[in-house]
Amino acid sequence: MNIVILAAGMGKRMHSALPKVLHPLAGQPLLSHVIDTARSLAPTRLVVVIGHGGEAVRAAVSAPDVQFAVQEQQLGTGHALAQALPLLDANQPTLVLYGDVPLTRASTLKRLTEAAAGAGKKAGYGILTVTLDDPTGYGRIVRGATGEVLRIVEQKDANDDERLIDEINTGIVVTPTAPLADWLAALGNDNAQGEYYLTDVVEAAIAAGHPVVTAQPDAEWETLGVNSKQQLAELERVYQRNAADALLAAGVTLADPARFDLRGSISCGRDVFIDVNCVFEGTVTLADNVRIGPNCVIRDAVIGAGTRVDAYTHIESATVGAQAVLGPYARLRPGAQLADEVHVGNFVEVKNANIGLGSKANHLSYVGDADVGAGVNIGAGTITCNYDGANKHRTVIEDQVFVGSDTQLVAPVRVGRGVTIAAGTTVWKDVPEYTLVLNEKTQIAKTGYVRPVKNKR
Ligand code: UD1
Ligand code: CA
Repeated sequence: MNIVILAAGMGKRMHSALPKVLHPLAGQPLLSHVIDTARSLAPTRLVVVIGHGGEAVRAAVSAPDVQFAVQEQQLGTGHALAQALPLLDANQPTLVLYGDVPLTRASTLKRLTEAAAGAGKKAGYGILTVTLDDPTGYGRIVRGATGEVLRIVEQKDANDDERLIDEINTGIVVTPTAPLADWLAALGNDNAQGEYYLTDVVEAAIAAGHPVVTAQPDAEWETLGVNSKQQLAELERVYQRNAADALLAAGVTLADPARFDLRGSISCGRDVFIDVNCVFEGTVTLADNVRIGPNCVIRDAVIGAGTRVDAYTHIESATVGAQAVLGPYARLRPGAQLADEVHVGNFVEVKNANIGLGSKANHLSYVGDADVGAGVNIGAGTITCNYDGANKHRTVIEDQVFVGSDTQLVAPVRVGRGVTIAAGTTVWKDVPEYTLVLNEKTQIAKTGYVRPVKNKR
């Protein structure tokens, strides 16, 4: 099968410099959703028709299996499809999708293509239709006495009787490809919009003896398009509700499915709990019994069984072992690798660092470019000084080290096993194992000291 995605339209009502089909839904361009669905049908050719903002669209979705056809002027849906013709396999049917209709399910498209394929001796022409309470604005399906499709009439060209028809053309069609060149070449633009309508091909197909069939989606939202920010927001909610429902069905507990946002993919073990207002991006894996507190942002992460992530924690490109405790207000940046039972508390930032079994950094610290062993206690206000202004260096803290509060570790530096670092120490030389390290400092107390007072004016 060939698949052509029409994506040349401008999207004036988005009031945006960004081409319409690149506006994100669930973190991905609208067009990417359509391309993903198309791919799941394993097409032999996949063509995107671009026009407005074409180069930006091409750059955003280019891939080895995607070809592009340029429609210089937007002269209508029929004209748009004609631009893709040279790239299609004439021996396969062609499924036409819209780049701004992001949520059509593959199962619905299969139903449509199967209905067309099995319609008769000649290859069928299939139209995805839906019956709407308010069909205003859409092309209407005009049927004859026995219910057979006669033609599609656009809202602007319809007479009063035709406007009463509530079965509409979603725009998604499947057509035999060999005769398409002739059918499209024969289209006129003598209509209310002065456009070459793809919808007029239906009559040519009927005249040539191809059976015309219709199929319906399971849900109306599958056929909804995005023309405005309002419609984009509505479809975002549909997407998120569907994602939340899928998790609930799989046994995940969501404190509120209406306050859950997925911008990528998530896989969860048993008895996972997710509190309100969390955002999941990229690829996230939560093992059994993970609990995510409210307002967390988690991107590209693997979190081990029984781990608790408290409120306002940010995690990006990190792995966390089992039975760990993070946050509230913890930040794991790319390359943070936490073993089992690690605690990373409030206002602690970990970047490109390994932290070993059971180690704890509970308050106000920066652990960057470091290898921290097992059973290490990192006191409040500890900082790995990893950057010398030009290069980054590593800090190594071996097992069972006690790092006193307000310690600076000036990398590159190695602290041996079992070392105790006194509070307020600047460590800039390697420390051998099982020693106490401190900086010599004197505490001076001046008695009878009087604090300055503000000058009176
Ligand atoms: C079209 C259908 C209408 C259907 C409606 C469903 C026609 C003539 N009408 O109307 O029956 O009910 O969709 O939403 O087909 N596009 C191009 N190049 C063009 C024109 C459009 O690539 O020259 C693309 C658009 O980017 C969009 C899609 O085709 O993805 C549909 O275009 P749009 O202008 O929204 O079609 P409608 O007039 O709404
Ligand atoms: Ca439209």
